[in-house]
Amino acid sequence: MQVSMTVNGEPVAEEIEGRLLLVHFLRDQLRLTGTHWGCDTSNCGTCVVWLDGEPVKSCTVLAAMAGGKQVRTVEGLETDGVLDPIQQGFMECHGLQCGFCTPGMLMTARALLDRTPNPSEHQIREAISGQICRCTGYATIVRSVQWASENRIAEREAEREAERAATRTTDREPEVAS
Ligand code: FES
Ligand code: FES
Repeated sequence: MQVSMTVNGEPVAEEIEGRLLLVHFLRDQLRLTGTHWGCDTSNCGTCVVWLDGEPVKSCTVLAAMAGGKQVRTVEGLETDGVLDPIQQGFMECHGLQCGFCTPGMLMTARALLDRTPNPSEHQIREAISGQICRCTGYATIVRSVQWASENRIAEREAEREAERAATRTTDREPEVAS
């Protein structure tokens, strides 16, 4: 069967088997190997991607079910060579060791920050509770998400202040040369 969807902003149309899982479609057919496949039991969460903006375990979704939807993978977090704040946070706070769980953690954490820009530690731990990390003990992951949250808020404030300054400048009367 043929399936069409948008993946990281690009339209994709492919011939697939009806029983193909989204995780295998992304990894094997589109070669987007940033999304990992870690278990056969829907437990590890390393396969999380976004489907129409919602984080889902892509090992529990048929590729055919993603037809007509927007898929975003870990490869789609970076914009024009600039890391997303959540990626930067993991870098700054050593939120990964082997990195196997990281793609799913990043996608889940970024979705949390979109819904809740300033989450508590409890909210962060709850959001990532469907994901397993065998290396970090989770403390540095929580700190990474907090770093991203603090820096995104600061970034937005700076943007808002720049917008306010630009509006003040354009509102001023132009000076007429004599
Ligand atoms: Fe483990 Fe999807 S691969 S939950
Ligand atoms: Fe190794 Fe999380 S960093 S499993």
